Amino acid sequence: MVKIAPSVLSADFTKLKEDIESIENIHADWIHYDVMDGHFVDNISFGYSILNDLSKITDLFLDVHLMISDPLRYVDRFIDAHASLITFHYEAMNNENEIRELIKHINDKNVLVGISIKPSTPVESIKKYLDDVDLVLVMSVEPGFGGQSFIESSVGKIRELNQYKDYHHFLIEVDGGINDYTGKLCKDNGADVLVAGSYIFKAEDRKKAIDLLK
Ligand code: DX5
Ligand code: ZN
Repeated sequence: MVKIAPSVLSADFTKLKEDIESIENIHADWIHYDVMDGHFVDNISFGYSILNDLSKITDLFLDVHLMISDPLRYVDRFIDAHASLITFHYEAMNNENEIRELIKHINDKNVLVGISIKPSTPVESIKKYLDDVDLVLVMSVEPGFGGQSFIESSVGKIRELNQYKDYHHFLIEVDGGINDYTGKLCKDNGADVLVAGSYIFKAEDRKKAIDLLK
């Protein structure tokens, strides 16, 4: 069954604990945690200290999405703050050596590792890393902001990645513009994890929103 990862970017930070409890109670599988540095993307969100606070109030799997330049420099702080999985952006890296070093570094600390591609980056560019990562995150909007519309061409990427699953073991996660319609499209084409921010947190009935995604 597909896993649902509500993105706390769309939560109400004046009552974060309540919002986390609300998604725990309706069986969210993961918490998606978007880190933005104002450099790799044109927005600033939150860092590792809030992640550490979050880890104290929930047992949910902490799915950390780093939208930052130079992830190797900061990754240990997110590991120390109890990330369960750390996904970095392919586009934030300078070369293959750096990518391999970062993957190994995260693996060696017994944390799961994911690689993400922006809408304009082809699947082909990360093909050589599929054996070494636990997850591939397909961005279905330009990273940086919640509440954008799903880019339909992402479905082709999910399908393409799905073909490689015969030979490699990794999860396919999709992030951006997920609602009941686009979520089903992703699921039917092989997505394992759906990230949804505004669709869940702004819903009048959050349980219904999650049920419709599953
Ligand atoms: C966007 C973030 C997403 C965002 C999704 O850069 O990576 O995780 O929270 O928000 P929605 O579901 O509202 O598109
Ligand atoms: Zn994200």
